[in-house]
Amino acid sequence: MCACVSEDMVVWKLPWTSALGALLLVLAVLCQDPESADEEPSPTSQTVKCPLHCKCPSDSTVNCASAELTEFPSGLSDGIQMLSLENNMIREITVEHVSHLYLLETLNLQNNGLSSDGKLEHPLERQHTELTSAPKALPHSLVNADFSSNELTRVYPYTFGYKPKLRSVYLHNNKLTDSGLPEHMFNTSNSLELLTMSSNLLKEVPRNLPSSLHRLHLKNNKLKRLPAGAFKNLSDLRELHLQDNQLNSQDIEQGAFSDLSSLEYLDLSNNNLSVVPSGLPKTLLLLHLERNCIQSIPADSLNLLRNLEYLLIHNNKLRSRTIHPAAFQGLKKLHTLHMYNNLLERVPRGMPRRAKTLMLLHNSISEIGRNDLALLHTLTELNLSYNRLSSGRLHPEAFRKLRRLQTLDLSGNNLDTLPVGLPRSLQVLEVKNNHLRSIPAGALTGMDQLTRLVLSNNQLKTMTCGTTDCLVLLSERSGHHFTVPPCPALKGTGHRFSILRYVLYLSLDELMRTVWSFCVRSVTQKDQRCC
Ligand SMILES: *[C@@H]1O[C@H](CO)[C@@H](O)[C@H](O)[C@H]1NC(C)=O
Ligand SMILES: *[C@@H]1O[C@H](CO)[C@@H](O)[C@H](O)[C@H]1NC(C)=O
Ligand SMILES: *[C@@H]1O[C@H](CO)[C@@H](O)[C@H](O)[C@H]1NC(C)=O
Ligand SMILES: *[C@@H]1O[C@H](CO)[C@@H](O)[C@H](O)[C@H]1NC(C)=O
Repeated sequence: MCACVSEDMVVWKLPWTSALGALLLVLAVLCQDPESADEEPSPTSQTVKCPLHCKCPSDSTVNCASAELTEFPSGLSDGIQMLSLENNMIREITVEHVSHLYLLETLNLQNNGLSSDGKLEHPLERQHTELTSAPKALPHSLVNADFSSNELTRVYPYTFGYKPKLRSVYLHNNKLTDSGLPEHMFNTSNSLELLTMSSNLLKEVPRNLPSSLHRLHLKNNKLKRLPAGAFKNLSDLRELHLQDNQLNSQDIEQGAFSDLSSLEYLDLSNNNLSVVPSGLPKTLLLLHLERNCIQSIPADSLNLLRNLEYLLIHNNKLRSRTIHPAAFQGLKKLHTLHMYNNLLERVPRGMPRRAKTLMLLHNSISEIGRNDLALLHTLTELNLSYNRLSSGRLHPEAFRKLRRLQTLDLSGNNLDTLPVGLPRSLQVLEVKNNHLRSIPAGALTGMDQLTRLVLSNNQLKTMTCGTTDCLVLLSERSGHHFTVPPCPALKGTGHRFSILRYVLYLSLDELMRTVWSFCVRSVTQKDQRCC
């Protein structure tokens, strides 16, 4: 989160601890999100037929949430449409309980004690407080069913099948296995749009899902393989969540994704992939592949994804030479690429040309050649922090084409001098945690847009002021004060820096090392800005 600082908040000539304290306090107040209270109105009237401990705000709504029920409420009127039973200890629901509820549309049984066999096998199980059985049948009228956070191990053909209006089914956080599901779990329930089965024990993608499905959540199961046709008929699916499983590259068959002709969002993160899968849906906008063991990107795995906008492939084992130079060719919409925490030694060749955000931090990049970045004309944010760049191996013209670059992070490298030839469009420049000893003349010249410059944790000792291209003000360490000394360079007119008014210089050096932090803000913007 950014700290927000407003123009009037510059504090100086105060002991730095209390100034900082005051500043933080103001920030805390200013930056607080307004709290959004989202409470249900409490019901005012109760109808005669309302079950004990429940609330019935209207004839069609029965709310028995958190009512300490151990049994399905009796005496429900036939006409109810909405029944909330979440957070109780109901362990069993029989066909008799629900068969007369012929108008029931919404049933919430989240977090109960339902068991799959529907029987109490052992008296001791009475103490068990989790719902472990899906009802054998539910009303034909059902639209929404929430059975999440129970201990369900079985679902029956008539639990969710034969419900033409059924739209959403929540089954996450249960104990469902492949064998606990009927072969046709949603037979003729052809309006189903949302199915959540995350955090169960599935090894296979459930079969015969209705083609009406828009969103399918299978996160955190035991999926190891995706056979061809795993998503058969799901041509309307937009979102598919497969993260936190055990998928192996060699067990994703050619054609596994081929029916997903509308898929826009695919999450395959935190699996066991060693290579980017081929045959991904061409309609994808966002692809999560992070936290796998991906070592390579072949030429033809991504370049048909013409709509792809976000590719998240951080925390893998990519090396520059194992990314095919044509891997990103044709990805004209790709604007955000996260490749941090890999093993890259250089900026890979053939980076997507329309990229706006490139996160390459935490790799092993030791060199940037003259043309490594030369095709990235649209780049606005480049994060190269925590690599192995040294000043001698950063080509002075490497950044020459990045005319739209606004944010550059070179922190945590081995630079001993601030690079020259950085884009004049920069608004944020961070070069902390390096070995900077000097800021060469001209290095910051013309950076009219710069609002944040962070040079802390370097070995900068002296800096001069008064030339046209130096932002930095000399100041004694004045007993831990915030200091805003007068700056001739900034007062002068005709200089490119004349729009800058304050340069904050804060010394926190207790250990004979000089630590600098600068915050440069523009007077033209009186509103709050991040600093
Ligand atoms: C699905 O339901 C229809 C209509 O009741 C029935 O004819 C068909 O056999 C069922 N299919 C399966 C696979 O159960
Ligand atoms: C696939 O969907 C079509 C209609 O869209 C339907 O006729 C067919 O039975 C479905 N196949 C499966 C295996 O569900
Ligand atoms: C992960 O994949 C590697 C090969 O890529 C395989 O040797 C290993 O057994 C897999 N691990 C699991 C848990 O499937
Ligand atoms: C670079 O990325 C790291 C990690 O996300 C982030 O903390 C840092 O603020 C980024 N740098 C800039 C200048 O945004």
